Amino acid sequence: FYIGNEEDAAEKIDPAALGLLEEEYEKFKDVDSRSLLKKYLTQEIFDSVKRRVTSKGATLHDCIKSGLANPDSHIGLYAPDAESYSMFHELFDPVIDEYHGGFGPDDSHPATDFGDPSHLGDLNELGNYVLSTRVRCARSVEGFPFNPLLTSDQYAELEQDVGYTLGTLEDDLAGNYRSLDEIGPEEQEELLQKHLLFKQGDRFLEAAGASRFWPEGRGIFLNENSTLVVWVNEEDHLRIISMQEGGNMGEVYDRFVRAVTALGEKLPFSSSGHLGFLSFCPTNLGTAIRASVHIRLPLLGSDRQKLEDTAAKYNLQVRGTSGEHSEAEDYVFDISNRRRLGISEIEALQEMYDGVMEIIRLERSLEEGGTESRKGPSQ
Ligand code: ADP
Ligand code: ARG
Repeated sequence: FYIGNEEDAAEKIDPAALGLLEEEYEKFKDVDSRSLLKKYLTQEIFDSVKRRVTSKGATLHDCIKSGLANPDSHIGLYAPDAESYSMFHELFDPVIDEYHGGFGPDDSHPATDFGDPSHLGDLNELGNYVLSTRVRCARSVEGFPFNPLLTSDQYAELEQDVGYTLGTLEDDLAGNYRSLDEIGPEEQEELLQKHLLFKQGDRFLEAAGASRFWPEGRGIFLNENSTLVVWVNEEDHLRIISMQEGGNMGEVYDRFVRAVTALGEKLPFSSSGHLGFLSFCPTNLGTAIRASVHIRLPLLGSDRQKLEDTAAKYNLQVRGTSGEHSEAEDYVFDISNRRRLGISEIEALQEMYDGVMEIIRLERSLEEGGTESRKGPSQ
């Protein structure tokens, strides 16, 4: 990894590119944004990193252009290649530290520890609150940059390598990989409705330059009963997903661990001692795991801010029914672990499991409680 040396890098940046970056930053100063980019890209940090370029050609502008174009971003920056995390560390470090709830520049991510999936039980033991359970992780393949720097040939090569490896999965994990262009629009819509397929045209990814050559190289793998899903070349080289209806986290996580382990034996996943598994977005480092439930909370969910505050107490994040940047429909929320870095896989799972159980207990106590909550929300 490059250790910041501004003089070296100063020779690399194209003067026109630097001019544009400076102009955009000036404009951004007047933009109202609650993103972590806005919070941490101070003039001092900007000046210290603005001339640097990674060996694959990524500039500061490439890292921040999604956040500049989308002031409503929560984070606002991406790493076009793994080297960007160290090359622009003055900016990435505080963002990573805040998002993952305390992870310093000298900290090391712990070794992989999946724990014993059978120790996780069923989240619906107190009642049928959870509609479905999902565990996913992001993985990148060594030797390839992240999305914005992939060439058309690299997309094809990655798709072929990953598609071939997916074809080696066995037993309940076995299934089929299909390129996006082999799936008709109606079937794509159906898969999207079932929460199996990624959405298209994400403005955050588009602005980051992560949708080039779409739909080339993109596709989806499904096992026979659609409980194991792998997204190829969407936001990351791989998104490995285990999901099923109901709240049986033990089963979902067990399938997840077996799939990730089998794929990791055949594909060289990018990782570093400091940041664990490496991926395009600083939120998806370390374990890169997001374990979520779709949970119906008519009482707790009638006050979104209260739900957010409660979730935050347990290091949980609240999303809408169709994922990130969506709204909740019929009080169905997506609740997941927020931290993915600096804790082991099983710790991430346990944190989510315990927090969701607390949320369920709270919803139940509101059901049993005073007249206020008994009335429920007005529709
Ligand atoms: P991710 O980064 O985890 O893929 P998104 O927020 O983009 O996150 O969600 C991707 C898709 O997964 C969306 O369709 C979302 O509704 C779906 N999803 C997330 N969690 C669950 C769950 N527990 N059950 C069913 N679908 C889910
Ligand atoms: N860039 C977007 C934002 O800052 C998404 C961040 C996290 N989500 C993701 N899919 N990587 O809001």
